[in-house]
Amino acid sequence: MNHTETAAIVDVHRLAFGKEEGDDIAWLAEVFLGLADTISISAKRDGKIVGNVLFTPFNFLDHPDAKCYLLAPCGVLPTYQGHGVGKEIMEASIEHLSSVGADAVFVLGVPTFYPRYGFVPTDKQTPYPDLMTAPEAWMALELTKGSVKKLSGKTAAIPQFMQPHWWDTSQHG
Ligand SMILES: CC(C)(COP(=O)(O)OP(=O)(O)OC[C@H]1O[C@@H](n2cnc3c(N)ncnc32)[C@H](O)[C@@H]1OP(=O)(O)O)[C@@H](O)C(=O)NCCC(=O)NCCS
Repeated sequence: MNHTETAAIVDVHRLAFGKEEGDDIAWLAEVFLGLADTISISAKRDGKIVGNVLFTPFNFLDHPDAKCYLLAPCGVLPTYQGHGVGKEIMEASIEHLSSVGADAVFVLGVPTFYPRYGFVPTDKQTPYPDLMTAPEAWMALELTKGSVKKLSGKTAAIPQFMQPHWWDTSQHG
């Protein structure tokens, strides 16, 4: 990915998440985009990137062979929201993740948005289960049949995403 594309994606997340969270999430997106294992799916309108979603590896420590991803962040430029861009990147992502043999995708996010694409609340642990106060916001999408049922125990996101504040649902709206 070239520098211009990275900058455009980082800006999409900064603006999508607004004043309160935008800078933190833009930082996260930039870190993720620098990692070889990150999957990045974007949508363009009017010749520019207006929506993007990133996926980074998510590990179940007792199940090293499971191929799971964490979805974060997912954002659409404010002026393009509500016109199908989010739907487009979610559908393209699921198709791509299925094609690369992913077992499951996890997300800590809006419980009214992700279920549209098959995500369901999950009882699997986040990396900081003690900080989980909104269990409906922690969801999974199974891509390989039967894979999620087998998963249990401690989990880990990539190091840059292991700071507790990302997982403390009492701090987020
Ligand atoms: C959430 C977001 C990615 C959705 O993208 P979008 O382009 O606006 O969504 P779409 O226009 O493709 O809408 C897809 C569907 O989701 C619904 N939807 C959109 N935003 C939603 C939200 N915040 N909560 C619940 N449902 C939402 C739409 O009504 C639409 O439903 P329909 O298919 O039944 O008509 C975008 O609004 C955004 O960037 N928001 C700010 C950042 C954010 O909250 N990201 C997710 C955090 S986990």
